Amino acid sequence: MRNALTIPIQPWRPIPAAPSFPVHESKLVPPFERPGMVSRANLLDRLEASAAKPVVAICAPAGYGKTVLAAQWAERDPRPFVWLSIDERDNDSAVLLTYIAVGLDQVEPIDPAVLGALASRGASMAGGVVPRLAAALSAMALPLVVVLDDAHLLHDRHGLDALAVLADHLPEGSQLAVTSRGEPQLPLARWRAEGRLAELGPGDLAMDGQEAGLLLWAAGVAAPDARVAELLRRTEGWPVALYLAALSIKAQHPTDVAEVGFGGQDRLLVDYLRSVLLSRLSPPEVRFLTRTAVLDRLSGPLWDAVLGTGGSAEALESLERANLLVIPLDRQREWYRYHPLFRQLLRGSWSAMSLSRWACSPVARPSGARTMGCTRPRSATRWTPTMPN
Ligand SMILES: Nc1ncnc2c1ncn2[C@@H]1O[C@H](COP(=O)(O)OP(=O)(O)OP(=O)(O)O)[C@@H](O)[C@H]1O
Ligand SMILES: [Mg+2]
Repeated sequence: MRNALTIPIQPWRPIPAAPSFPVHESKLVPPFERPGMVSRANLLDRLEASAAKPVVAICAPAGYGKTVLAAQWAERDPRPFVWLSIDERDNDSAVLLTYIAVGLDQVEPIDPAVLGALASRGASMAGGVVPRLAAALSAMALPLVVVLDDAHLLHDRHGLDALAVLADHLPEGSQLAVTSRGEPQLPLARWRAEGRLAELGPGDLAMDGQEAGLLLWAAGVAAPDARVAELLRRTEGWPVALYLAALSIKAQHPTDVAEVGFGGQDRLLVDYLRSVLLSRLSPPEVRFLTRTAVLDRLSGPLWDAVLGTGGSAEALESLERANLLVIPLDRQREWYRYHPLFRQLLRGSWSAMSLSRWACSPVARPSGARTMGCTRPRSATRWTPTMPN
């Protein structure tokens, strides 16, 4: 069993002390940028100009392009980036700090005692681990950027306090960047008052006409300027809504894009996705999507283990290729997530009655999931694989 706990991250150097949970590589790399992403040149310039501010907060609602922007920044900035895609499990401060320590260690080997202290569950966080990790961070030779993507998921006070300490120990020229749907529970007010915080909000992240035109064009919709302007007005530059609008327009196979009707209400987008996009899929595809939508993130092997079936990886790849809002989280195409709106739609398609048909018992073959080194998402433990047809 001990072997299963060894961190399977290659080609990074082996960690001297293995943590008591599997460390997922997919959390430590920016999501793979699919073709058709518009370069956010102005925002990247602003991020570059913010280098003197140790903390960067990119806060906007879902779908505003926070993650895409941060990934483009990581591509463009010459400094090494430590990337961490936050999830609920990071609300255990030992987990959160272990990921940060592993990320730092990939940039530059850190004091093995830090990882040792993190691996020993008895160690005091605030009194032992955090000061050690802060010292390791401030001793880094190269300026770096630590990105915490989806920081709104963090609510554990110990972890948040530790992050505040780390932010105060960043070496010269380094930055801690958080992307978050709402304001993260970090001392932003203090950092703002101290002039140490750079901020980007929804108004900054909203696309302008040129970006919207490029987005539509890259998604296969050659819309005239007036049409782009109309879509921009209706979506207010919300990148994901523009993208969904492009999907919607394309699916109608218009001969003249300017003539295509497109509802400006978000509800119409959701209705469109439900009635047109989903209805074009085969029943097994819809069933697969609806079932897997209970998970925050999923991999083919994990889902195979949960259901005791096979072929989930191929199904995911095929759905991704069909541009079905299935987003790869790593270059290996192992982990995926669904676009939040799409996932919301899929989850909404379960009526209360459907849900009540699901028994609340442990999932099948949990040991199978463990032997693959997968961390079973908590939500998966609530459902049985017996699904309504
Ligand atoms: N620069 C861009 N070019 C093209 N499309 C974009 C761009 N930025 C965002 N989008 C569209 O919006 C979608 C959502 O972007 P992203 O995942 O970055 O949003 P987010 O703000 O991180 O959302 P969440 O809060 O859910 O994490 C992308 O999948 C893409 O369809
Ligand atoms: Mg994001």
